[in-house]
Amino acid sequence: MTMRDKLELLTRRAAEAEQGGGADRLKAQHAKGKLSARERLDLLLDDGSFVELDRFVTHRSEAFGLGSQRVYGDGVVTGYGRIEGRIVYVFSQDFTVLGGSLSESHAEKICKVMDLAVRNGAPVIGLNDSGGARIQEGVASLGGYADIFLRNTLASGVVPQISAILGPCAGGAVYSPAITDFIYMVQGTSYMFVTGPNVVKTVTHEDVTMEDLGGASTHAGTSGVAHFSHPSEPAALQAIRDLFRYVPSNNVDAPPRGRGTDPRDRRDEALLDVVPDHPNKPYDIHDVIRRIVDDGDFYEVHRDYAANIVCGFAHLGGFSVGIVANQPAVLAGVLDISASLKAARFIRFCDCFNIPVVTFVDVPGFLPGTAQEHGGIIKHGAKLLFAYCEATVPKLTVITRKAYGGAYDVMSSKHIRGDFNVAWPTAEIAVMGPKGAVEILFRKEIADSDDPQKATDAKVAEYTEAFANPYVAAARGYVDDVIDPRDTRPRLIDALEMLQGKRDRNPPKKHSNIPL
Ligand code: HXC
Repeated sequence: MTMRDKLELLTRRAAEAEQGGGADRLKAQHAKGKLSARERLDLLLDDGSFVELDRFVTHRSEAFGLGSQRVYGDGVVTGYGRIEGRIVYVFSQDFTVLGGSLSESHAEKICKVMDLAVRNGAPVIGLNDSGGARIQEGVASLGGYADIFLRNTLASGVVPQISAILGPCAGGAVYSPAITDFIYMVQGTSYMFVTGPNVVKTVTHEDVTMEDLGGASTHAGTSGVAHFSHPSEPAALQAIRDLFRYVPSNNVDAPPRGRGTDPRDRRDEALLDVVPDHPNKPYDIHDVIRRIVDDGDFYEVHRDYAANIVCGFAHLGGFSVGIVANQPAVLAGVLDISASLKAARFIRFCDCFNIPVVTFVDVPGFLPGTAQEHGGIIKHGAKLLFAYCEATVPKLTVITRKAYGGAYDVMSSKHIRGDFNVAWPTAEIAVMGPKGAVEILFRKEIADSDDPQKATDAKVAEYTEAFANPYVAAARGYVDDVIDPRDTRPRLIDALEMLQGKRDRNPPKKHSNIPL
């Protein structure tokens, strides 16, 4: 055979590898409203940047007729490419080949790119579309999953790991994404469950649809397993690209600078009127965030889950920051189990990847009640406290209104290594709100008075005057300053600059023991 003949053979094999499970299966994939593994990579990566590895890998099994179903690539396209010029490692499962199921060889391909990613300090992005462990391969495929889980765990906090769920993901196919940092789902075509509706019916006799059991809205809104839910695959893939505007490639690099043109000294008049005069009237903290960050650009995480706390990324004077904010417009911004879990995980991500945390506080406290106590609000709230205490990235805090009780301590207070803590003049920093305090402190006195309502009002006014303000905390240095709300943006940017050299570390240890 001449070189030309050999090249022709290579071209033929390469074309075969490109086809995956063939034209009919690709047609079926499209008919379900899903893109192919390669079309997805084209949308995710910079044009022409994808370099494939292992395209000629096949499985090695003969069991249950698999010997006659050997397809180049074995159901997953792997390699590397670029997002906005930065290297990322990728795998994209191909449902047209044995349902994207994970064989020993399929797992080895994924492990190879994960190892490269960790060694080279670049993110891993997995596009998942798989029926789980390849049933015909038995324990070899289970071993393959375990190899991936171990790598997911060891890579956690070293390089960002992102999962897009773009089809049914059952069994082992959900646990690898669950260990990664962010999960993106697509409405109507992506599902995650440990066991599907049929098994559920057999075991618990429940009738449930795929959508209700593990669709995008279930996981993005109810379980919190997914961080993002998008109407289409292109929208989800574009959102992953956008994430990398805020996130560095590894735990040593600084996050990327924003490219906005918003003046750093921009004051915002509207911030004067955003907090209502009445302390129990809600307002939308998104308005505050958008008015302060660069160009009003806020990349919200977990938007549909635990909306009483808001988390997301933004740039401030070009610095990438993670924002955590109580949301007075939902449940008065109270901290409950879901909010604690959501914010704790977000803060830990930011801390892993050198992203300063900016906290906006307006919180009446932790949510009381048996549902919360029995659900373990103590250990879950402790996660949030732990995450803030442990974080060594710059921590900036703005108290806009209420900072009551334990929630004051938790929400990035000075005492737990807040670096820059300021309050608006509307701040109320105390053990509890005036009404609750008066009812406890003066119950007998009020009951004995001729006019209990008048006595209550007088005591509430006295307490409000004494405690429902930022100056008691300011007098102790618990807040560094009380600021004009209009200056919040320039003050935060200035503080971020001041904190650029921050070096803080926790005592040496194997690892901490966060209350799980
Ligand atoms: C081998 C599989 C497969 C699998 C699907 N296929 N899943 N082959 N192993 N796990 C094959 C099908 O036989 C079919 O082949 C093709 O892929 C497409 O599948 P369909 O069923 O036709 O597609 P669809 O109707 O869209 O349903 C998709 C699905 C369903 C919901 C994913 O296929 C399914 O329920 N699969 C099994 C899921 C599962 O239980 N997996 C094992 C989990 S246990 P043909 O040739 O007919 O087109 C696990 C253990 C790991 O993962 C645990 C670690 C912690």
